[in-house]
Amino acid sequence: LKASMEDVQQTYIMIKPDGVQRGLVGEIISRFEHKGFTLKGLKLFQCPTELAEEHYRDLKSKSFFPKLVKYITSGPVVCMAWEGPGIVAAARKLIGATNPLQAEPGTIRGDLAIQVGRNVVHGSDSQENGQREVALWFKDGELCEWTQEITPWLR
Ligand code: PPS
Repeated sequence: LKASMEDVQQTYIMIKPDGVQRGLVGEIISRFEHKGFTLKGLKLFQCPTELAEEHYRDLKSKSFFPKLVKYITSGPVVCMAWEGPGIVAAARKLIGATNPLQAEPGTIRGDLAIQVGRNVVHGSDSQENGQREVALWFKDGELCEWTQEITPWLR
């Protein structure tokens, strides 16, 4: 357990335009805050097409790629960098399966969505992509270097 507590990672979490439009920003941020992770960066942002294409570059050959880019650029998104032990996999668990109909109740998608093309939130799928995506969406100086004070009895 101690080893995993020391495995501090960063991940990129993004509330997609449908999540913003539906007023789910606070609800989604709360899930990560309540879990105990540390927010390092946060902004509301209208994503340009080129950035969406770069973010999803591994999916270029997929038939849904143009629709995905159109969706992500259709309105503002909320960009977040979160930090914590084992956060890349833990965030994917909090988010739930890609297809919201297959996502477990209790997960963000399981509770809040029904369509794969409107699945409200993104989370990096590997530590490598976590680093890549945080660097892609945030400029130098946009992340805050701070430590969350945890009450001693929780340590
Ligand atoms: S794949 O095919 O296995 O690479 O797809 P997957 O890893 O499950 O999903 C990669 C991202 O593509 C989104 N996705 C879709 N968007 C729109 N329409 C369809 N049909 C679709 N299928 C997958 C999916 O939500 C993933 O985006 P993120 O932002 O990572 O959730």
